Amino acid sequence: MAPTKATGSAADFVPEASSLPALREAAAGCKGCALWQLGTQTVFGEGPASAEIMFVGEQPGDQEDRAGRPFVGPAGQLFDQALAAAGIDRSETYTTNAVKHFKWKARGKRRIHQKPNWSEMTACRPWLEAELAAIGPRVLVLLGATAAQCLLGRQFRVTQNRRRLLESDLAESVTATIHPSAILRGEPQQRETELAAFVDDLRFVKSLL
Ligand code: URA
Ligand code: SF4
Repeated sequence: MAPTKATGSAADFVPEASSLPALREAAAGCKGCALWQLGTQTVFGEGPASAEIMFVGEQPGDQEDRAGRPFVGPAGQLFDQALAAAGIDRSETYTTNAVKHFKWKARGKRRIHQKPNWSEMTACRPWLEAELAAIGPRVLVLLGATAAQCLLGRQFRVTQNRRRLLESDLAESVTATIHPSAILRGEPQQRETELAAFVDDLRFVKSLL
């Protein structure tokens, strides 16, 4: 019988065959942590297996949870705008999240985003590792602290390390920047400046190809 309780790790669900379609199909049934009951569906990464750039965000938000696709809500729209400004074609890149189910808390009728905790990040990491292995991107871009800490360790600080080449064997080039949501959460007067800095980080990403 299929387990109804979380097993503690996505590793229990990652198949041997590691093509993206096989991974996506298996991830749809993941019960590696308790978030499978909270989110509507697993939001797997999106993009071609031939992608040279792979972006990793935090976890799907409200709109991603409904659509079943990463970065389609407000943060995703800002991300699209920044990518276009940096001259990166999103359809040629692969975009995914460190945690693949939406974690939320009800506030009235709204579903408020909750940050995934370390055990959820650890439980979900096998999917991210399998995506990395299937794609083998040349450039790996970690968007925000959750993605960066999930793959590089809990001590990692994005603000001190953005727009730099990081020491890691996860890809030919590994770099980190802020999460686009951080721009949306910032003071309105700061947005222009923060968006411009984010676009500069993405230009740096492009220069690594
Ligand atoms: N924020 C993320 O980190 N990922 C998404 O897919 C959407 C918002
Ligand atoms: Fe599995 Fe990740 Fe969803 Fe947890 S968040 S159930 S580990 S896909």
